Amino acid sequence: MKLKSKPLKILIFTIFKKAGCNKAEAERIAEYLTKASLVGHDSHGVIRTPRYVDMIKDNHIVTNVKPKILMESNNFSIVDGLDGFGQTVGPFACKLGIKKAKKYGNSIIGIKNSGHLGRIGDFSEMAAEKGIISVHFVNSIAGLLVAPYGSWERRFSTNPFSAGVPIKNKKPFILDFATSLVAEGKAYVAHQGGKSIPKNALINDKGNDTNDTSVIYGTKDPNAKSSRGGTGAFQPFGLHKGSGLSFLCELLAGAVTGSGMGRDNKSQPFRNGMFSIYLNPSKYVKGKEYDQEIKRYIKFFKSAEPNKGVNQVLMPGEKEIHNEKDRLKNGIPMTKITWDAIKDTAISLKIDSKLINKCL
Ligand SMILES: NC(=O)c1ccc[n+]([C@@H]2O[C@H](COP(=O)([O-])OP(=O)(O)OC[C@H]3O[C@@H](n4cnc5c(N)ncnc54)[C@H](O)[C@@H]3O)[C@@H](O)[C@H]2O)c1
Repeated sequence: MKLKSKPLKILIFTIFKKAGCNKAEAERIAEYLTKASLVGHDSHGVIRTPRYVDMIKDNHIVTNVKPKILMESNNFSIVDGLDGFGQTVGPFACKLGIKKAKKYGNSIIGIKNSGHLGRIGDFSEMAAEKGIISVHFVNSIAGLLVAPYGSWERRFSTNPFSAGVPIKNKKPFILDFATSLVAEGKAYVAHQGGKSIPKNALINDKGNDTNDTSVIYGTKDPNAKSSRGGTGAFQPFGLHKGSGLSFLCELLAGAVTGSGMGRDNKSQPFRNGMFSIYLNPSKYVKGKEYDQEIKRYIKFFKSAEPNKGVNQVLMPGEKEIHNEKDRLKNGIPMTKITWDAIKDTAISLKIDSKLINKCL
């Protein structure tokens, strides 16, 4: 099935408003979740709605927080998210990093105690729109999912990495991925009957490659709520390389920010830590030469002969642009199970069925 993005965004906004978020927070959550679905990252899109609402109900997240700056210098800050929504904490910290980089040339912002930050590329895009280069390392405490290279036991979260570089008169370079071979949400989409994941995306407790998502959720039930029940793990991307990058995310986003590194504590709610570097290129490079060199390289990069079955060589960020164009026009694809779960959440909050039906 395909859902219309505009009414879907209104429905998601209404759900979070009814669940206890103020208007601005509900708007932000709806904007970020719908955007992730539009650009093709269904794993971090509207599929998250029921889980987020359950977190409010279970007091695992605090609505409407005003993030607190714990430590500050000209170009360094630690932001305490006070256990609030990542869609509130993330943009607050990102705006701070951009403001400091605009003024001082560069900045580093750490986030601790934040709810799920969603699609990290949103922050790379936000900075790039203001002419700022950014690099983001993310970890999570109490979200153990990924085995280090050489093991099947969970020691990392899916620890995403993202970077954005603005490009004059063009869409920015946006690199944004989980350091696991697939993001958790992609396994969840597969668990709910959506697109399947590669055969070596997961590893079972015998140390064998698998794509059987019950090793993560501990059940075949498509409505499994927690990824903590399984006995297997996700595999890092790129063998020892992804495993090493994930460890770096733990060090920067977990230790340096004070957010905490991964731990085996199933009773603790999921929290993201983020370590971000912001750089204002206009303070450091010769504008014309810099822009021309990037333009030349993009042309050279894109001129690489595509392999059989590949239409064109894509820059990081291009796929998402194509997806968004297509999905704005043709709708957001969704499995019936995912849509039913969103509908049930809306119905449980006594939302007018007209708002629900408009999405179809
Ligand atoms: N908050 C969290 O804790 C958390 C954890 C994990 C992942 N995430 C988010 O999940 C999302 C999905 O991550 P993922 O690992 O599934 O991403 P992915 O594997 O789809 O990779 C996406 C990146 O690869 C680029 N890309 C994709 N196809 C390409 C192609 N054919 N040619 C060139 N480049 C291409 C994209 O432009 C993008 O930069 C991300 O937005 C990430 O931030 C968040």
